[in-house]
Amino acid sequence: MQPIILAIESSCDETSASVIQAGKVLNNVIASQTVHQKYGGVVPELASRAHQQQIHKVVNEALASAGIQLHQLNAIAFTRGPGLLGSLLVGVSFAKGMALGLGVPLIDVNHMEAHVLAHFIDDPKPAFPFLCLTVSGGHTQLVVVHDYLHMEVIGETRDDAIGEAFDKAAKMMGFPYPGGPLIDRYAQQGNPKAFTFPHTSIPGLDFSFSGIKTAFLYFLKDNKKKEPRFEALFLHDICASLQAHLVGMVMEKLKRAVEQTGINRVAIAGGVAANSYLRKSLQDQVSQSGWDVFIPKFEYCTDNAAMIAIAAHYKFVAKRFASLSVAPLANLAIGD
Ligand code: KG4
Ligand code: ZN
Repeated sequence: MQPIILAIESSCDETSASVIQAGKVLNNVIASQTVHQKYGGVVPELASRAHQQQIHKVVNEALASAGIQLHQLNAIAFTRGPGLLGSLLVGVSFAKGMALGLGVPLIDVNHMEAHVLAHFIDDPKPAFPFLCLTVSGGHTQLVVVHDYLHMEVIGETRDDAIGEAFDKAAKMMGFPYPGGPLIDRYAQQGNPKAFTFPHTSIPGLDFSFSGIKTAFLYFLKDNKKKEPRFEALFLHDICASLQAHLVGMVMEKLKRAVEQTGINRVAIAGGVAANSYLRKSLQDQVSQSGWDVFIPKFEYCTDNAAMIAIAAHYKFVAKRFASLSVAPLANLAIGD
């Protein structure tokens, strides 16, 4: 059978739907929420309301642009977690309603596994096993990917995610949410070696980003005492140096993970995988260390339903369906 699946993503601030046929993603409709910009972070209640307003339109658009009628669907997939509970509930309820109405199976997808499986949407696809560094606004994880349905977390953040560090530093400089992409943009014309930050690293393969947040706050305060226009005068250099520092922290652990596991097929995933300095640093390892690297297209880095669709395809093939009583889980971990 060549299944046709509708997939819905609603874990955070992106309402997205995608149709996949026989393992080929036909589209990836995304409605981003702009309502959070002025708050410096995602406001959960506003996110759920926005999902509720958008989901019908987004799903209809995905079906129409794929040229697929409701009766052709073989399954409905949705993000079960991790994510914001209220946001997840909108997608789960919508998917359950559709599955029940159409009499087709439901497929629950783990958002973090889906970020990893985004590498199977297009060619080139990594062979198993490979290492994936998943870096987003909510997570920073090192994962050994044994196959489509079997992944093992070998390192993760003990406090903040790297995307959070980007966004909070951006907020300190007065940028709107999410500030990560803006730091990347300003950094393009800056010197990554202009400023240095304290190197705090914890042993093993885990990460910690809370220290750099505080260090960056005092860095700005101290320099502004000496020169009130410090931020404006050195914006590009500040962004380039902070970005190089944050990327350096994850690259150090990635290199350690390659050494420890002996796996040098390395992928990156998640919203921060859109960062140009991280993409370049990974690419540099091809010539420097002989790594085989996999970098997803920009549209498959940040939250999207195409990655939910590809993950659902492999679950469909393995006949791993969910019951109608399945509930969203805000803290769903890889392998749960
Ligand atoms: O995966 P994602 O869309 O949502 C979560 O599951 O969290 O990731 C969003 C995160 C935000 O923190 C955003 O600032 C960051 O990805 N991000 C970037 C870039 N593009 C998105 N961070 C740094 N540089 C970028 N170019
Ligand atoms: Zn995500």
